[in-house]
Amino acid sequence: MYKYKCMNPIAKIGLNNFTDKYEAVDNVDDADGILVRSANMLEMDFSDNLLAIARAGAGVNNIPIDKCAGKGIVVFNTPGANANGVKEMVLAAMLLASRDIIGGTEWVKANAGDPDIAKLTEKSKKKFAGTEIFGKKLGIIGLGAIGVRVANAARQLGMEVYGYDPYLSIDAAWRLSSDVKHVTNVDDIYSKCDIITIHVPALDSTKGMVNEAAISKMKKGVILINLARDILCNEADVLAGINSGKIRKYVTDFPNPTIAGHDGCIVIPHLGASTEESEDNCAVKAVLELKDYLENGNINNSVNLPNCDMGVCAGPRLAIIHKNVANMISQFTSFLGNAGYNIKDMSNKSRGDYAYTLIDLEDEIEDAIVSKIEKIDDVIRVRIVRKDV
Ligand code: MLT
Repeated sequence: MYKYKCMNPIAKIGLNNFTDKYEAVDNVDDADGILVRSANMLEMDFSDNLLAIARAGAGVNNIPIDKCAGKGIVVFNTPGANANGVKEMVLAAMLLASRDIIGGTEWVKANAGDPDIAKLTEKSKKKFAGTEIFGKKLGIIGLGAIGVRVANAARQLGMEVYGYDPYLSIDAAWRLSSDVKHVTNVDDIYSKCDIITIHVPALDSTKGMVNEAAISKMKKGVILINLARDILCNEADVLAGINSGKIRKYVTDFPNPTIAGHDGCIVIPHLGASTEESEDNCAVKAVLELKDYLENGNINNSVNLPNCDMGVCAGPRLAIIHKNVANMISQFTSFLGNAGYNIKDMSNKSRGDYAYTLIDLEDEIEDAIVSKIEKIDDVIRVRIVRKDV
């Protein structure tokens, strides 16, 4: 029986994928797997039972992924599962920033009791006039699942689209409209574009990337959209840009004391992926990733360990998380050979400081083998995955 804990409500359609081999638990320390959305896990201590955490969403800045890797806890996310929801929010953000729809509807609310509101409207509406997005230059920083969808949709809306992504995947390149202009220097996005939208993960290397220096290269009256994570922008510099007239509007999905309520900011309460469809897609993907790891030892869409997939587990399978150093595989194979175990199939993958080895064996293996392999230097965690749990 596998045990899982939901740290946040997770859509039922995802949880329905758990079979009778699974039990929901209240105490997180009992869980083999955790499902999480936005709960802050950064200061949590993890029990030795915990094998994996699956985040129903793309960003993982609420999970200590390095600490987890060091403990042999695999962290998954669900890239692409909510990308359409966020793409649609970017389209809304562009329109809300270009036309003063919010100011206009607030004006109507404030004047709702006026019997002459219809006449008054025609006199007052000019202060809410805006610009169109057709023909404008859109710069997209980060062409992952969301950035590519935004690029293609913006082309459909008649925008001139510029994309920057030094880590563009082959898959993303295949999906990207050939009309999107590929930019190799982010400064070209800053200097050319009327609207700029950011779609990169929050990492030490991307934190504060939109700062005074970047803003100084932008066109006067630029619209800046940040539905990725607030820390990507130095928001004090963004406010200075708004006050000087350089930035026309800053649209963000992350309210905080710096920008909430500030003139020139449209602050949305983290609704980018809050759609029925996105929540369902993320829940299904997170649960399936977690199940595949618990039942088969397969890793797909991990953010802290290498992806490694040997398909459905048909017999005893050793799953070994270890440091990415020389001579590990030969130690595993000679240990197993000396102990009389015949290897049927194996796979080894590495990512940064960590590596993962899956070994399918011909015959049943004794549980005591786990602690013996764990004694090999630089081995972090060993698990025997069996067909029937
Ligand atoms: C994400 O990280 O996928 C988005 O911020 C949406 C969310 O988690 O609600």
